[in-house]
Amino acid sequence: MTKIVLLNATPQNSPNAYLWGMVTVAEIIGQKLFTRENLITLLQAADEEGILILKKAGKLKLKRVGNKVYFRGLIELSNVCEKDCLYCGIRNSNKKITRYNLSDEEVLEAASFAYRERFGSIVVQSGEVTNERFVSRIEQLIVQIKELSNNQLGITLSLGEQTEDTYRRWFEAGAHRYLLRIESSNPELYSRLHPSDGHHPFEQRLEALKTLKKIGYQTGTGVMIGSPGQTFADLANDLLFFKTFDIDMVGMGPFIEHEDTPFGNPLRDAPTLAERFNLSLKMVAILRLMMPDINIAATTALQAIDPLGREKAVKAGANIIMPNITPGNYRNNYLLYNNKPCTDEEPEQCAGCLDARLALTDSEIGYGEWGDSKHFGKKVKG
Ligand code: 5AD
Ligand code: FES
Repeated sequence: MTKIVLLNATPQNSPNAYLWGMVTVAEIIGQKLFTRENLITLLQAADEEGILILKKAGKLKLKRVGNKVYFRGLIELSNVCEKDCLYCGIRNSNKKITRYNLSDEEVLEAASFAYRERFGSIVVQSGEVTNERFVSRIEQLIVQIKELSNNQLGITLSLGEQTEDTYRRWFEAGAHRYLLRIESSNPELYSRLHPSDGHHPFEQRLEALKTLKKIGYQTGTGVMIGSPGQTFADLANDLLFFKTFDIDMVGMGPFIEHEDTPFGNPLRDAPTLAERFNLSLKMVAILRLMMPDINIAATTALQAIDPLGREKAVKAGANIIMPNITPGNYRNNYLLYNNKPCTDEEPEQCAGCLDARLALTDSEIGYGEWGDSKHFGKKVKG
């Protein structure tokens, strides 16, 4: 029996680990030994070993999906939300925020801006609303956005859990990607992050993801990293969930407290923001190593902790950035967490600033391209 087989059978923290010998980070990556135990080892790797993971992932990204970063102009359509997730600043019970709803004109103007700037795609995101008025409004907006861009803008939706019929209507109207984070693949942790009011069951989230896939959307999901009570084993399982579920895109980032939520104060022993940031970069890198041809977003929450957060994620394997193109006056009301960056800027300022910053990472921006998940493309071609 080889050393590695023995090691994979042995948890790293077992008292026998020394006798059984330790598998190194380089061996795990080189031989793609992504078992749960080895993923925990990667997540806990520090110093040079930690840096090695980021570097290897950066290199593999260049080899498998190239050095292009694709833009998805983010339109935060409304902060009205039927849900009440315990961590989220726009949860229904937060009475301190001013609720807003962009007008159709404002949404279409933002989409035209993305088209003019050759962003390639937009993401329409909103708090969760499920009534027929909302569903048909989105349906019509999708058609209008396709029209104003000569069918050229790709449309990603991030509008929460909806019925199969709703997902189908939006798909048929022209949206082709959907983001719905699982938040945690551990049903027990999921239930601690959500109210037990019958409206937030884990199974419903999982079902929604399966439905999106079945309909034919490029399906993206993700988790919060460093959320209250989360363990390294949870994160390792999340990575395995992404792989098993065979997702096309991922957006994940650090959990950041929002003061007007039940999780507004860090729990005792919570990881620091810096630790959550580093762990998030590592999650991006490890996932790139496990799933080399998917799309991985460098999320805004990273930038809330480190001004260069998104660029660092691009170096560690991410290839998607979502510049915020919501009209400036609304941005202060879409605060999912404290310190959200760029809330005072206008879209024009964001675009210019990103171009310059990404040049520093040796990346090229895929202007005017959809930048679809190569992973999805392969599945469709069979
Ligand atoms: N910290 C980090 N991310 C958050 N989200 C919501 N609240 C927070 C928070 N406090 C994320 C969730 C959700 C996405 C829209 O924003 O993962 O899916
Ligand atoms: Fe659920 Fe905002 S209320 S993510």
